[in-house]
Formats: sequence, structure tokens, C-alpha cells
Amino acid sequence: MVIADLGCSSGPNALALVSVAVEAIHGYCLQLQQPPPELCVFLNDLPDNDFNTVVKSLVTIRRCNGPVVVTGIAPGSFYERLFTSSSVHLVCSSSSLHWLSKAPEVLTKNQIPAYYIDEHARREKLPMVLGAYAQQFRKDFRHFLKLRAKELVPGGQMVVSIIGRHSDGFAPFHIWGILAQVLSLMASEGVIDKAKFDSFYVPVYGPSKEDIREVIQEEGSFSIKEFLVHDFLSGLDNTLVTPSWIANQIRAVYEQIVVQHFGDVMDEFVRIAERRWSLDRSLLQEEHAGLAMLTLSVTKP
Ligand SMILES: C[S@@+](CC[C@H](N)C(=O)[O-])C[C@H]1O[C@@H](n2cnc3c(N)ncnc32)[C@H](O)[C@@H]1O
Repeated sequence: MVIADLGCSSGPNALALVSVAVEAIHGYCLQLQQPPPELCVFLNDLPDNDFNTVVKSLVTIRRCNGPVVVTGIAPGSFYERLFTSSSVHLVCSSSSLHWLSKAPEVLTKNQIPAYYIDEHARREKLPMVLGAYAQQFRKDFRHFLKLRAKELVPGGQMVVSIIGRHSDGFAPFHIWGILAQVLSLMASEGVIDKAKFDSFYVPVYGPSKEDIREVIQEEGSFSIKEFLVHDFLSGLDNTLVTPSWIANQIRAVYEQIVVQHFGDVMDEFVRIAERRWSLDRSLLQEEHAGLAMLTLSVTKP
């Protein structure tokens, strides 16, 4: 069997999904008193990922004297072909598919800011801006499904989790609004250039369950087996969720893209974020309120 994790990153989480999959397959075969299949595990991320660190940890998956598990790296964008036709049995991906292939061109080409500093303009333009992001998500996710459908064997499965939003009752928003909130403050205070802030686009969109379901149904290669929606921060000890913790989480996720655009401003970012959220915690809650973790498993018939 061939298993692939798409968007593995390079920290301690890099092997988490594939390790669970390998254990589950071995456990299942043990239960059936059958010899486990030989497994080939691939880890994918963008070529800039720190694959050196990943490769060093990959040996922990291989076992001496145990069932055969071989490992490999498949660098590249998951919006391109990664594997040969009908060669993969299980694709998993965690917290990665909300990254788009690019920011919507209708915004970048027409120089329409994704997040207006002025609150009135922001509210007025948000539906149009988010509409453009939603359209880019649909295009990318549809393309992703088509590519994976080619690569999976008949009966192959995908298990993916995507950071998104609860369906109804909340105004639509950017899931990176919490980052933009602090950067816009930095722009107003002159720490970063306002014009630069207006041309800053994060290629991330938080879909709803309906967004995802619709694309899967329209695209037609997969049927949905299970679909779960959790609160984004559910299960976390509330005392951990301090302004400092959140600021550093945001730093971990967005540092690269922020530094590429604005230069080395992340220490200042964390300082300003902590100050702002310590003074007014409701600003944090506002941005987190509608966030959800969407987890689904689909099968290629
Ligand atoms: C938030 S991390 C998730 C890491 C890990 N899967 C986890 O659950 O902790 C998102 C990862 O997706 C990767 N990623 C984003 N766009 C990608 C693309 N088009 N192709 C492959 N990987 C991508 C990023 O480089 C990053 O490592």
C-alpha cells in the first residue's frame, strides 16, 4: 500500500498522520490475523520545506524485523501532479488545504486590498473580497480533487482536515483576519508602510462545510464517507490561550510570508499583538469565534 501526507511541514507533526495510518493498518491486520501489507510512505510539502530534518526523523517509521515500511519524499505543490496514475491508496492532509495556489488575481491585478485599514471600507468591501477568495478556493480545490483522483487507485481514500469556518450565523471573514488586524495597526502606527500593507495578500481561505461539499459533488470523482466539524480551539486548555500564545502561533504560521513582504518585523508584531489583546481580549475572541476545523474522509469509487 502507498500512503501520502500532503503538506507535512517539518516539525514534530510531520510524521504524525502517517504514523497513525501505519499503526492503524498494522493493528487491523493483526485483528484479522493476516500479514500486514508492505507499506510505502510518502511525505509531501513545498520544495522550500526543511526536508533534511524530515528525512532524519523518517527512520523512526521503519522497523527492524517488523513489517516492511519504506519511506520517501515527494516535494512539490499539491496543486500539481505528485504521483503516477493509480498508484496511491491513502492520501491524508492536515491543516494545509486552506492554503490556495495564489491570491485571487482579480484583487492583485486591480490592486484591491484584501483588508482595508479603514473599518467602514473594510466592512463594505469584505463580501466582494471574500467572494474572490471563495472562487479561488473552489478552483484550487476542484483541481486538487481531479489530480488526486488520477493518482489514487479505485477504492482509494483521502482523509483531510481543513481550517475553515462554521456554516451559518457568522458574517464571512478572513481566517487570517487576526494577522491582518495587528498588521493594520502596525501600518496605522507607521511601523510598516501603509501602501505595502494594502498590497499584502495571504493566499488562504477558510471554507465552510457547504463550500467543500459543493465542490466535491460538482467535481464528481469522490463520494463523502464522513464529515466532522469541530470548534477550532476545542480540547485546548483555556488557560493556555493567552495573547502571547496566540501571537506566537500566528508567528509560526505566517512568519515566512510576512517577512518576505515587510522585512523582519515579527518581534514587533508579537509585541504589538500582545499589547493590543491584553488591553482588549474581545478582539481575539471576535476573530476566533467562527473558526472551525473541518475533517472529512472521501473515497474514489
Ligand atoms: C499549517 S502547516 C500543517 C502541517 C502539518 N500537516 C500539521 O498538521 O501540523 C501547512 C503546510 O502546508 C504546506 N503547503 C501549503 N501549500 C502547499 C502546497 N501547494 N503544496 C504542498 N504543501 C503546501 C505548507 O508549506 C505547510 O508546511
